Amino acid sequence: MRKKIVIGNWKMNKTLSEGLQLVDEIIEELVKQPNNSVLKIVAPPFIHLAAVAEKLKSINGFELAAQNCHHNASGAYTGEISPAMISSTGANYVIIGHSERRLYCGESNNLLAQKVTIALANNLTPVFCIGESLEERNSNQHLEAVTKQLKEGLFNLSPSDFSKLILAYEPVWAIGTGVTATVHQAQGMHNHIRFEVNKKYGKEISSTISILYGGSCNVKNAKELFACIDVDGGLIGGASLIASDFVTIINSAIAE
Ligand code: PGA
Repeated sequence: MRKKIVIGNWKMNKTLSEGLQLVDEIIEELVKQPNNSVLKIVAPPFIHLAAVAEKLKSINGFELAAQNCHHNASGAYTGEISPAMISSTGANYVIIGHSERRLYCGESNNLLAQKVTIALANNLTPVFCIGESLEERNSNQHLEAVTKQLKEGLFNLSPSDFSKLILAYEPVWAIGTGVTATVHQAQGMHNHIRFEVNKKYGKEISSTISILYGGSCNVKNAKELFACIDVDGGLIGGASLIASDFVTIINSAIAE
């Protein structure tokens, strides 16, 4: 059975004390609404990682992710953070290829492929984001656009490395816009992604890899999105900043 996973991507929000308070609130909410079947992950800003790791140490099934990493191991890259540094904080996951980084930081599929390789070499699990723009969706190019991201960003990996990944489908037009993909659109794309993975890596890997949905996912729509057969949870932005909403979304991923 595939793992159900819900990740909170805080983006550039929360000071350190606000972030620690949010983690405390999430832990309190999890006591009220407990579940052991969903892997819960938070992705705070880099500078909060070590302190948040300390808080999560004793919480079962609650993990930590960075929002990005550099594509080199070390060196003269002022202001950058390496995968080994992330690992040393206690984080086991890293988001790679978020559309905001593709767009605002000019990150190409080629660069992202390097990030994935070096993250894996440092025992970080990449959460690799893919998704089409509104223009691509409107011109019916969405399937090709996502296939291209998969091929150029990930399909150089060996089967054993590829099987370690988490994928996140995030249509760019749905991120932070309040416009969510319909159940039909989300399931259609997740099914397509699994089809492409099956073509490249075979049935065992395509049927076990977790594919999360992201883009204006909230307490109202999470349940129906997560009920789609090929949707294994979510990558949550805005709604992950409110503890009770985030935990309700986590619990929406429990299979009934
Ligand atoms: P959103 O962001 O939930 O605020 O739309 C999702 C994401 O960018 O991961």
